[in-house]
Formats: sequence, C-alpha cells, structure tokens
Amino acid sequence: MIRVFAPGVIKLFGEHAVVYGQPAIATAVDRGAWVLCERGERTVIRAGPAQAQIEYDLDGDVAWARGHEPFLSYVKTALRKAGESFGPLKASFEVKNDFPPSVGAATSASVSVAILKAYSACLGVDVSGEELARLAHKVELEVQGAASPMDTAVSALGGVLRIETSPFRYRRLATPIRELVLAVLPRRGTTKEIVAEVRGLKSRHKSIDAVIEAIGKIADEAEECLSRGDLVCLGELMEVNNWLLGALSVVGHEVVLLLHNLRPYIYGGKISGAGRGGVVVLLPKDAERLAEALKSMGIQHYHVRIDEGGARLV
Ligand code: MEV
Repeated sequence: MIRVFAPGVIKLFGEHAVVYGQPAIATAVDRGAWVLCERGERTVIRAGPAQAQIEYDLDGDVAWARGHEPFLSYVKTALRKAGESFGPLKASFEVKNDFPPSVGAATSASVSVAILKAYSACLGVDVSGEELARLAHKVELEVQGAASPMDTAVSALGGVLRIETSPFRYRRLATPIRELVLAVLPRRGTTKEIVAEVRGLKSRHKSIDAVIEAIGKIADEAEECLSRGDLVCLGELMEVNNWLLGALSVVGHEVVLLLHNLRPYIYGGKISGAGRGGVVVLLPKDAERLAEALKSMGIQHYHVRIDEGGARLV
C-alpha cells in the first residue's frame, strides 16, 4: 500500500496578478491531500461521500462517476495524465483532503499532485517534484482552461516559493513564518469563474493593469521583508495586497470587517486564492489567542504550519 501526502497551498502575495506574469509568493502547509494507492484488478477511486466516487473499466475509461463535478474532473484528468506519462495501472485509490473543496487552499492542485505521485509510486516509478509540478499544472490547465503554475508547483515542491510564470521559474525563500491561521468564510463562485471575471474587468479598463503591476511590486517588496525576518513588514504588505485585490473586486466587506476585528491578534491578513470569500490567511501574533477569537466569532479556522517537504510518500 502506497500513501502520499501533497500539501495545501496558501498564497501569501500575488494571486490573480500571477496569471498576468507578475511574481507571487506562496507557501505549502501541513494540511492537504492524502492518497492511498493499492494495486488490484480494477481502477477505483473513492473520495468520501462529500466528494466523489469513480470506477474505471478495464480499458481505463470511466465506467461510472458520481459526486462533486469539479472534483471529479480533476481526478479523472489526473488519472489520464498519469496513465499517459507513467503507463497503465490497475489500482484502487482513496483520496482525502484536510480542507473542504474550493476554499482557496489549492485543494484541486494538491489532489492532482497527490494522485500523480501515488500513481507513479504504485507503479514503482520515481518522479521528481518538478515533473510532478509540470504534469499537475497540465491537469489544472485542462480542467480550468486558465491556471498559473503556482499552486501545483508549491504543492509538489513544498516550502515558501517565489513563483514567476513567463517563463516559469521558482525560487525557494527563507522565512521567519512558522505558522499561519486560516479563517474560512463562505465562498461565492469557483476559481475558474472568478479568474474569468477579473480578466473581464482587466479587458474593460486599462487602469487595472496598474493594480496588477502594483501587486507584483508588493511581492518583490515582501521578499525583502521575508529575508529580514520582519513579520510587521509582511503583515502590513499583506493588508495592502488585500486592498489591491479589493480593487479587482474579489474581496468582500466581510473580509475587511474580519481583518479589522482581528487587528489585536495579527500582524496582517488577506484573502488567499481567488477570493470572494474562502480562505483568509492570517499572520498571527499569538496563534492560540487568534484561534480563540475566531472560535468565539463562530468562524471555521485551521491552525497550520509551513510544510517544507512537498508531495511525498508517508
Ligand atoms: C488560485 O489559487 C490563484 C489564482 O491566482 C489563479 C491562478 O494562479 O491560477 C487566482
């Protein structure tokens, strides 16, 4: 039996702007996707009642599939890409995720990475983190139509990475951040829809280019704060990044209010991912007290640590 963990990904700086070639900084965290793989007669995927069940027939076509549609598309596409890259395999896969789907913690990317890694390991094929990142990005592109390589690269490779997209490059960054708290707000819209709406806004107004460039400059400046170990500077820039994301119409008043109310407990915070609710990443001054405050507000939250390892056998 093969067991794989692929970390979830929290965007610290630069989401949306990264789609247009600006640099971004994202971190892998110690919660994410888990996939068990065991060779057998048939290929069957089980992903818990809330997500999906899929059964492949002997030719590798989907015999039946039931469940959360977007999730099914990622699983089916990841299996097909794995088959094309690593060769045929009959196995049962069990998929679990520590985060609910579509909240902005890169659940689709980490599930794709974990399936590709588990499939190759089940076949006895050793695949590098960079190759995993490349294949998983292809899965995201096929399913979403447009996606930067950020989430898949960070889940496959782990750590805090600076990502550039044209051409794709990444750099591992040293970080003073050890832990983060993630508040989860109700989400309106999928990543695909929200990315398309930002594209629409950008195409209607030339001035949006300046917002996107400013987000890229913040990622550059944040890199300096990271290298100095300056959490105050990072928190402040997270807030500025959040206001700029507001200008792209992906930050609602509930996020602004939440950040305002949590001010005593945090250096700063922002949405993480496509926005319109979902994960709000908080840089805590004291994670325990922050978690207590969120609990008293009745807000779902996760206390996470930075994961340096990337997708791996566990
Ligand atoms: C989604 O996690 C982050 C976005 O920047 C989209 C992408 O990078 O593909 C909104």
